[in-house]
Amino acid sequence: MKNIYKQQSQVKKEERQKQAGHKSVILWFTGLSGAGKSTLAHAVEKALFDRECRTYVFDGDNVRHGLCSDLGFTAKDRQENIRRIGEMSKLFLEAGVIALTAFISPFQNDREKVRKLFNQGEFIEIYCHADLSICEQRDVKGLYAKARRGEISNFTGISSPYEPPPKPELILNTGEESLEECVDKVINYLTLNGIIHN
Ligand code: ADX
Repeated sequence: MKNIYKQQSQVKKEERQKQAGHKSVILWFTGLSGAGKSTLAHAVEKALFDRECRTYVFDGDNVRHGLCSDLGFTAKDRQENIRRIGEMSKLFLEAGVIALTAFISPFQNDREKVRKLFNQGEFIEIYCHADLSICEQRDVKGLYAKARRGEISNFTGISSPYEPPPKPELILNTGEESLEECVDKVINYLTLNGIIHN
């Protein structure tokens, strides 16, 4: 960047992590609308918070009211949405926080670009897998019905694709497994990989 210089912080990421007593990582939840990303991210956050971890959840429905309120659902806008969330979660990682993100993030290429912002082991992609038929049945916000009636365009799963991650760190069957089971799997993963301690 021309005429722009980076300022170094006196406090290093590693020092923040040491003080926090855990590593900082990104838990990137991806999956269809209604797959349970947000519910799971918030439940995992609660479990981590109860273990005295520093955490924060970003979720599509909230971020799209503020930071990304200028964006819609074309492939280009989703790409920018995911880019911003990626950069923002990187700042949180630098701050020593476990950042949890719940965005459909349907495009493999966009997720891969975010992954590249991080060191090995820092970006943990969690695929929340639930069949479209289950998500559509749940239809908590009534959006699938609207999309079927043609009232919403570019709706993921109906009129816009979802590309499942080929090699996520974790796959959770959020359509069938209970919330508790899914939370346990995430916490186990974090413990086994030395990110948090028992
Ligand atoms: S993403 O594709 O850019 O990652 P994001 O997670 O931020 O999407 O937002 C998805 C949420 O926006 C959905 O849960 C749903 O409530 C709402 N939404 C509104 N229009 C659409 C659409 N065309 N496709 C998908 N979700 C939509």
